[in-house]
Order: sequence, then C-alpha cells, then structure tokens
Amino acid sequence: LAVTFILPDGREQTLEAEAGRSLMEIGRDADLIEGTCGGACACATCHVVVSDPWFDLLPPSAPEEDEMLDIVPGIEETSRLGCQIRLRPELDGMRVSLKPA
Ligand code: FES
Repeated sequence: LAVTFILPDGREQTLEAEAGRSLMEIGRDADLIEGTCGGACACATCHVVVSDPWFDLLPPSAPEEDEMLDIVPGIEETSRLGCQIRLRPELDGMRVSLKPA
C-alpha cells in the first residue's frame, strides 16, 4: 500500500508499507516523523493533516487522541495523530501533510 507524505516545504515522498502499520511508524522509518512516545498518544510529534477523501475513511479519534490534539499548535480540521492511524487497503494512496516541528 502507498502513502504520500507532503513535507512542510512542499516536497512529497511516497512510501510503500504493509497494512497494519501506523502512519507514525511508516513516517518514522523514513525519518519524516519523530514519534517520540512510540505511539502512546503522549507526544504529538506524529501530528499529520489528512487530505480528503481519506479523512472520512478513518476510524473516529479516541478521547486520548483528541486531548493530545487540543494542545498541538496549528491543528487543522483534518488533523490526526499518525500513531493512531493504521494503514488498511481502503487507505491505499492516502495523502497526509506534515507540519513544521
Ligand atoms: Fe507520540 Fe503519536 S507517536 S503521540
């Protein structure tokens, strides 16, 4: 499955990954995302802004994720934490933007 990360400077990087991996893990392996807390919903360094139409295909965010997003500067309506989003076949080709750290 493919995921395209749009970097803060506008460059794009498309990565191939297996279903079941989180966007944080995929981005971290390519040195695009820090993922400091290792996916425990506690650091928000995995913040991504999900492009349409993929945002609507995501499972709703858990309260822990919402709380964390509340303290992230510059969140947008389709902001999510990358560690809480696992790739599945319907999400193939999805595009997410990364914000400057
Ligand atoms: Fe820390 Fe997602 S990796 S909140």
